[in-house]
Formats: sequence, C-alpha cells, structure tokens
Amino acid sequence: MNFNSIKNICCIGAGYVGGPTMAVIAEKCPEIKITVVDVNEERIKAWNDNNLDNLPIYEPGLKEIVQKTRGKNLFFSTDIDKGIKEADMIFISVNTPTKTYGKGKGMAADLKFIELCARKIAEVSTESKIIVEKSTIPVRTAQTIKSILDNVGTGVKYHILSNPEFLAEGTAIDDLHNPDRVLIGGDHDSKEGQDALDTLTSIYEKWVPRERILQTNVWSSELSKLTANAFLAQRVSSINAMTALCEKTGADIEELARAVGTDTRIGNKFLKPSVGFGGSCFNKDILNLVYICKSLNLNEVASYWEQVLLINDYQKYRFADNIITTLYNTVTDKKIAFLGWAFKKNTNDTRESAAIYVADYLIEDKANIYVYDPKVEHPKMIRDLNELNTRDSSINESSLSPVDDPYLAVKDAHAVAILTEWDEFIEYDWEKIFSIMKKPAFVFDGRNILDSKKLTKIGFKVYQIGK
Ligand code: UDX
Ligand code: ADP
Repeated sequence: MNFNSIKNICCIGAGYVGGPTMAVIAEKCPEIKITVVDVNEERIKAWNDNNLDNLPIYEPGLKEIVQKTRGKNLFFSTDIDKGIKEADMIFISVNTPTKTYGKGKGMAADLKFIELCARKIAEVSTESKIIVEKSTIPVRTAQTIKSILDNVGTGVKYHILSNPEFLAEGTAIDDLHNPDRVLIGGDHDSKEGQDALDTLTSIYEKWVPRERILQTNVWSSELSKLTANAFLAQRVSSINAMTALCEKTGADIEELARAVGTDTRIGNKFLKPSVGFGGSCFNKDILNLVYICKSLNLNEVASYWEQVLLINDYQKYRFADNIITTLYNTVTDKKIAFLGWAFKKNTNDTRESAAIYVADYLIEDKANIYVYDPKVEHPKMIRDLNELNTRDSSINESSLSPVDDPYLAVKDAHAVAILTEWDEFIEYDWEKIFSIMKKPAFVFDGRNILDSKKLTKIGFKVYQIGK
C-alpha cells in the first residue's frame, strides 16, 4: 500500500482525540474520505449539528475546520459496519478508562472498548486493512488486537500500527498542525509491515516535515506514550511538591520555577504550579503504568511513579484544606464561589479536574458552592460529583449550584476560589467583586493567574499557590 492506495479512512470513536485528529487529516488530505463513527448517537448528532457552536467538543479552531470539511470529505456517522467495511485504514480512538471492576480495578486500563472494536472489524471486513491504534493503551495491546483479528476474522489480512496522539486539549488543533513529533510503531522486519508504516507516514508527510515522523517498533511506540505522559505529570507534581515547601519557607514558587527552568537541561515549560493536574490522561496512564510494573514484579518502579499521583492528591487536598482553615476552620453554610470547573482552560472537558475533588472536600464540611465556568455544561458538574460516590446525590445537588454569570457566583460569597486558569477571570471587575462579597473577602488562586498586589490593595485577603 502507499498513500495513493488510501482512499477511505474510518475512525472509531468521535471523542476528544478522534474528532479533532480526523478533522485535521481531512483538512490536509482532501483526496481522502474520512468517516468518524461512534456508538453514541447523541455525540454523532452534535458533530453533524448545523450550528457549529453545538459541536460536542470545544477546541479553539476546531469549528472552522469542521465547517470547511464536513460533508465534503469528513463525515460523522453511527453506521459503524459500513464505515469499517469501506475503509482501507481504520483508526481506533475509543476511550480506555481505568477499570472500575474486577481484576485490576482502580488501576488497569479497561480495554473492553478496544476489544469490541477489534471484534467488530474482524466480523465485517472483507478486504485487507491497516489498523491504527490511536487510543492510549498499555504496552503490548497490539498483540491483543492482532490475536482477535487473526483468530476471529475471515482470513482478511491486517497490519497493525501504533500511532499514539500527543495533542493536549485546549491546543489540539495547533498541536495537530504543528506536532513536535508523530510517532508510528510497526513491524520494521517484514516488507508488508514496513509498507504499512510508510503508508501512514505518507499521510502525515502531507503537512509534517519527514524528520519529525519517527518510526519505531510497536512496543516502543505504545510505551512511549505512557512514558511521555508520566514524565509530564511528574514535572507538575515536582513543582507542586515545592509549592508546599515555598509556603513554609518564604520562597516564591514563580521565582523558583524561573530560576530552575532557565537551566536548558531542565527547560522552562510545564513548571506551572497549580491546584493539581487533571485531564483524561495523566492519572489514568500513571495508574496503568504502575499496574503494569506491579504485574511484572517491578515494585520499586511502580512505587516511584505512584508518588506522582500521591503528590497530586495531596495538592488538591492541601488547597481545599487551606480554604477551610483560613475561613476560621469551617465552611459550613458558607458560600464559596468557584471560578472554573474544567481541568484546564480552553476546553469543556472536566475529566479528573481538580475542581471536582476540591468541591467534594468542601461539601463534606457542608459548604455551599456556586460554580461558574465559561464552557462546562451545568448537569456535567453535578454528574462529576456524583461519580465520586461520596454521598447521596441529593446532597450534591443542593450543595453545588452552577450559574451562568460569574458575578452571581461571587455575590455574598465568603471566598472565591480559582480552579481553572481561564483568561477572562483576570479581566473581571475585581473592585465590583469585592464590593458584593462578604467581608473579609478571601481569594484562593489555585492557578496563580491574578495580580495579588492589586487585589490586596482593593482589600482582598489573597492566597496563591507556593507563595
Ligand atoms: C496531556 C499531554 O500533555 C498530551 O501530550 C497527551 O496527549 C494527553 O495528556 P492534556 O491532559 O490535554 O494533555 O493537558 P495538559 O496541558 O498536559 O495538562 C494536564 C494537566 O496538568 C492540566 O490539569 C493542567 O492544568 C496541569 N498542568 C499542566 C499544570 O498544573 N502545570 C503545568 O505546568 C502544566
Ligand atoms: P478520548 O479522549 O480518548 O477521545 P472520549 O471518551 O472523548 O475519549 O471518546 C471516545 C469515544 O469512543 C466515545 O464517544 C465513545 O462513545 C466511543 N466508543 C467507545 N467504544 C466504542 C465502540 N465499541 N464503537 C464505537 N465507538 C465507541
């Protein structure tokens, strides 16, 4: 196969990875027809909505690309069988959440959706295909897919590639347009395997310089994705661990980060202190890494990576606990305004967001929380809290009030907590906010985005991370 032989791509899974990735491939390869399929009818309906503001995923720049390509060479459908049958190449972009039951509960990645995809492909395919693993998966998953395809299938030939996605939410389109690298794992040792690697490479070469496309064996590619995420999360936990020490010693975390980050061996990116990292990947991937290490009896390696998560939990707890301690050791019946619920700015994704855990802790102390987030839908916030299973859902519903107007959230509040670093929070009229809050008016800036000197001058009592 080569680039010219790929006329039809099918992507299974229309989520945060599959949707934006396929939109960009469609934009860059107008000669290829791309169909994104999903079992979730509502999601597909939203992808096909005439009003592009209703797309199921918010990403800067996404709707413009969907507008250009949808109905031309980009299609969204629930007809999974047809999508698979017609395709020369299939991307698997389904979710691989942490298992919530049985063997590996709370740690291992749940591969049931991947397995269902492999079985479906084996069942309906009639011609040879290249299968591309896009979802983040444990090392050696390609073996599972291959075993199913070879044993369930009808003699059709498959080539399996690993092509992990490194895009970060909120900057997905930029990351896809201009990736640091594209990683493709395959079977170098056979002619057919190399052909499959080169075919996928030729698609990316349409817009990515060849030297940034790395070909490796499948296992290196699968494990590189887990390793990259573990290293990134480790950096955030490293800087967050130092925030606790800064607060006790009079050192300033921003100055520390600048001083450390100017060492070119360390680098200055990803050293932003925060209330704790969230997102669909870091927690899940490290749990998965720890599980794999434990299964292979590498207990010291497992404990090393586990610490990254323990520090992250500690950071969220420390932030919430500081709110209670500062508000005279109780938040019972006090109104706390949350600005932000998403796990980072420029996304409507809330998976593993620190806000959920901080809210849970404060509700345990009977706080009344009012939340404003510019992109997250209100019912999602309540669902996030209920999924923790900490208490009866009726208590969550009466303790957490999502609102559409930030000034409504802060009115009569005892404290404001910044949970997400949305730019608009910086521009708010903080004099007005001060005037409508209860006094003393506290601000807990979990992202260090506000000008604490200016706020202190207005009259606020300001707490930032690592200061
Ligand atoms: C991450 C990886 O960056 C990406 O390569 C991978 O494909 C998926 O996982 P994502 O989770 O979308 O991407 O966002 P990222 O920008 O990595 O942020 C993750 C979390 O860490 C966020 O909650 C963010 O606020 C936090 N963070 C990040 C910090 O607290 N400080 C930092 O310096 C950087
Ligand atoms: P990610 O962040 O990895 O993209 P999401 O949860 O946003 O994860 O998206 C994964 C998508 O995959 C969901 O929309 C889900 O409905 C879809 N999906 C899961 N299993 C299957 C399946 N067997 N067939 C088709 N779609 C699936």
